[in-house]
Amino acid sequence: MRIRDYQDADAPAVGRLISATYREYNLSHADLEEQDRLLGPFQHAFSDDPSHREAIRSILQSPMLYIAEADDEIVGVLRGRENVLASLFVCGDRHRQGIGRALVSHFERESVAQGVTRLRVAATLFAVPFYTAVGFRKSTGVRPGRSFDGTNFTYQPMRKALT
Ligand SMILES: CC(C)(COP(=O)(O)OP(=O)(O)OC[C@H]1O[C@@H](n2cnc3c(N)ncnc32)[C@H](O)[C@@H]1OP(=O)(O)O)[C@@H](O)C(=O)NCCC(=O)NCCS
Repeated sequence: MRIRDYQDADAPAVGRLISATYREYNLSHADLEEQDRLLGPFQHAFSDDPSHREAIRSILQSPMLYIAEADDEIVGVLRGRENVLASLFVCGDRHRQGIGRALVSHFERESVAQGVTRLRVAATLFAVPFYTAVGFRKSTGVRPGRSFDGTNFTYQPMRKALT
């Protein structure tokens, strides 16, 4: 497994990874119709329609965007910006193999190199044990937030000091 920078050509595969992972692990409480809605542009991740592909390419844009790759396949993605880990997804059949931890470590190293001393994340409730394991702590109680379509999605604010 290796971590590398995102390239524009990765967008369709990253879109499919986020769509499938979010649907299975973060939206399992919802029926299919609501899942589609909460997925926003990612509900069309398996479509070849150029407008769908462009919407995903556009939502993925991030100042810091890293890919985990194994056996020539994209198995994880982390989006971030200064001080903020914006999102992290690892392919379901690769969970618990250290890929999420490796992506977070890479992001932390890049952040430290940019002079960042603290990170925050709006963690999905599913991911709280993971973020706790990699050193984040809850900064408040759970909060109402927004899913990819801009509507309600509960999350847990967490933060970590970088040394
Ligand atoms: C959260 C996520 C990114 C973790 O990725 P991962 O590659 O499976 O995580 P790692 O293998 O690096 O796990 C590191 C440690 O975190 C903890 N951990 C990870 N997943 C866990 C889980 N489901 N339950 C409890 N602890 C967990 C463990 O301590 C693990 O170490 P161990 O396997 O040696 O016990 C992955 O589960 C995922 O994509 N979830 C769905 C999307 C999501 O909720 N993303 C967060 C968006 S903010």
